[in-house]
Amino acid sequence: MSDLEKMRAELIGQIDAASSPEAVEAIRVATLGKSGSVTALLKTLGGMSPEQRQSDGPRIHALREAVTEALAARKAVLDRAALDARLAAETLDMTLPAEPLPLGTIHPVSQVMDELAEIFADLGFAVATGPEIETDWYNFTALNIPETHPARAMHDTFYLEEPRAAGGGQSPPSDGVGFADAAGRAERMVLRTHTSPVQIRAMQAAGGDKPVYIIAPGRTYRSDSDATHTPMFHQVEGLVIDKGITLGHLKWTLETFLKAYFERDDIVLRLRPSYFPFTEPSAEVDVGYTIQNGKRVIGGSDHWMEVLGSGMVHRKVIEAGGFDPDLWQGFAFGCGIDRLAMLKYGMDDLRAFFDGDIRWLRHYGFGVLDVPTLSGGVGA
Ligand code: DAH
Repeated sequence: MSDLEKMRAELIGQIDAASSPEAVEAIRVATLGKSGSVTALLKTLGGMSPEQRQSDGPRIHALREAVTEALAARKAVLDRAALDARLAAETLDMTLPAEPLPLGTIHPVSQVMDELAEIFADLGFAVATGPEIETDWYNFTALNIPETHPARAMHDTFYLEEPRAAGGGQSPPSDGVGFADAAGRAERMVLRTHTSPVQIRAMQAAGGDKPVYIIAPGRTYRSDSDATHTPMFHQVEGLVIDKGITLGHLKWTLETFLKAYFERDDIVLRLRPSYFPFTEPSAEVDVGYTIQNGKRVIGGSDHWMEVLGSGMVHRKVIEAGGFDPDLWQGFAFGCGIDRLAMLKYGMDDLRAFFDGDIRWLRHYGFGVLDVPTLSGGVGA
């Protein structure tokens, strides 16, 4: 066996015995590297006689090729084995969240809605809902706001496009937009301007012979935009229909609600005579506050701030809901949820509520586990 063949056999043996990619790399450097043994042999070609080069050249090149191939083959085997070992050892649970902690937060409006539901559930109120695309009748007429009533102008209503022709006895279109009223007339649809239409729907659902105790939180719409108004905003409606209901029940309910919501016992209310078409008498409700270190703090009676509208449900509204106003009375109230959130949690620009700015949401948002409970404090 020539020296070259011996060297080749040795090198291939070493390569095949290499037990790690690092060992393969070390052999590569020692053979094919700058000062490697095979490289040194190649360098000898320059000093050879033409005859010798003709006989040894191909053998040296063949050696280099054989070593190169063996190195590549061994590396492939070792890489494959390493990958197999990794795949066998590692487990990946695809059902786990990509981030170790949930990054989203509960929007303050959602949180306050949950707080309201919790507080009023304790007082025996259920949560009722109604459509945001509402008929003119539910949004206005049934609430004693007839076509010519100036209150319609106050609402900056978004009207939907032309009503569809109702056609005698035709059923409402499946998308529910622009259907006929009870008399078969085509009805104009609106984006509800307040949550009050849910009063009518809740009364109708009760069938005229059972008491109604509901709150209706939800989205409302008016064509208005500045620091304290956005085209979409949130209100909560409250409605009680029962027998022997008086203004005293209204005041107690609102006081109990606001004490629980602001988590203070020194809440003072002031009912100011006012006007709403759907209540008679009507009252605007102010809540007292004090200034502490330049900040507004709810409680006490140094200053007053309006928080909601309310009153005894108008006879015509009770009737529109399918109840007999000679037998049933009730009170109602309506309140801006966004404003309630601002007063409790200290935001000063309403528009930021709906910007979707992740920094604002992280700052003012609530943890998913901050579920408001009366026993734990609805303050979260
Ligand atoms: N719907 C009224 C508004 O959007 C608020 C309101 C006032 C609701 C008095 C009521 C109420 O139920 O009794 O301005």
